[in-house]
Amino acid sequence: MNRILFSTLLIIPMLFLFSLKENDPEDEKVQFFVPQGWPAPHYDFSKNPLTKTGIHLGRKLFYDEKLSRDSTISCASCHLSYTGFTHIDHLLSHGIEGRIGYRNTQTIVNPAWQKTFMWDGSINHLDMQPLAPLQNESEMDNSLENIITYLKSSSEYRTLFAKVFQTEDPITVTNMQKSMSQFMLQFNSYNSKYDQVMRGEKGAKFTKKEEQGLEVFRNQCESCHKEPLFTDFSYRNNGLSVIPKLQDYGRYTVTGQSEDSLMFKVPSLRNVEVTFPYMHDGRYLTLDMAIHHYDYYIEDNPTLSKEIKSIHLTEKDKKSLMAFLKTLTDKSFLRNRALAYPRK
Ligand code: HEC
Ligand code: HEC
Repeated sequence: MNRILFSTLLIIPMLFLFSLKENDPEDEKVQFFVPQGWPAPHYDFSKNPLTKTGIHLGRKLFYDEKLSRDSTISCASCHLSYTGFTHIDHLLSHGIEGRIGYRNTQTIVNPAWQKTFMWDGSINHLDMQPLAPLQNESEMDNSLENIITYLKSSSEYRTLFAKVFQTEDPITVTNMQKSMSQFMLQFNSYNSKYDQVMRGEKGAKFTKKEEQGLEVFRNQCESCHKEPLFTDFSYRNNGLSVIPKLQDYGRYTVTGQSEDSLMFKVPSLRNVEVTFPYMHDGRYLTLDMAIHHYDYYIEDNPTLSKEIKSIHLTEKDKKSLMAFLKTLTDKSFLRNRALAYPRK
């Protein structure tokens, strides 16, 4: 008798707790959306399941200047939502105490599909990415110990980490990395005019010029900037000359192989209209100049990609390419309030 009573007493609160958890809207699982016809994402979500609170926590971290040594720089200082998560006020990245880095900030777009990160591919997992800027002396210049001490001192962070990770000591570097990834995995752009036309949506139609641009693109650019992500994720030399002051040899600095000299990541061209300046060192201020590059400024050297050598663009081609590239601007992504600075 007693035993039955005891277990019933135990089961009732357990059921209650369970139902609370099930109904708690903050703990909702979030399904990752893969647009029709797109390849499977590379990111392994089973190791870091997306939840509403996890994404919220990642967003808070991404926008928190206090993660930098002097509380002035957040990830978003360089990666602004309305410019496709890059910055447009400097050629090269601009960090703590006005220190200038040696590369142009990259856009962050559709990162779930990427295998490697950075212009030279030196990072091979999205979760590892935050460790570089947090500790880099020209970016956020902090130590991981400082960051963990700060996070543990905040009751809001303590609550959020506990809710997402449900372990005894949830505020760890790994869990911080995972939550930042959860937020960045929301930076998905698939709703530009181009996408709407490709999906055959009602009323979506290319102009004649855009259509011609798509044709030029498919003939001369597609081999590297592959649809639908507009990158094939490879590293290539597209004929940029070496800037003596920067001496940046790209992927060579990671592999030490001479055949990788001057190879840089093929960037996605989604939202390219708003992600100026262009190239790994921001040398081209306008999209017009970036397109002209492929016709005028190609520097020949042993690692130059053969596809680049065969590019030929007439004035008309360049104009139509420009029109087409602008159809990759995705306003619903750039103006998505769920990705912007969190307001209280
Ligand atoms: C001072 C400017 C600056 C800050 C602050 C900064 N980044 Fe970056 N980010 C860059 C630059 C520059 C690159 C390219 C670096 C390279 O290739 O050497 C980059 C690259 C990246 C990439 C790779 C994108 C790709 O497609 O390969 C991701 C992801 C990223 N940053 C996330 C973050 C996160 C998360 C934070 C905050 C923890 C952060 N960044 C803080 C400037 C910055
Ligand atoms: C052989 C591969 C290849 C081909 C073909 C190619 N590109 Fe690129 N593209 C790259 C690489 C690599 C970069 C980055 C180079 C760097 O910064 O070092 C790049 C960068 C760009 C950028 C700058 C994007 C940014 O965010 O900085 C634009 C714009 C661009 N390409 C447009 C085009 C157009 C238009 C064509 C066709 C006329 C084309 N590309 C053909 C490899 C290629």
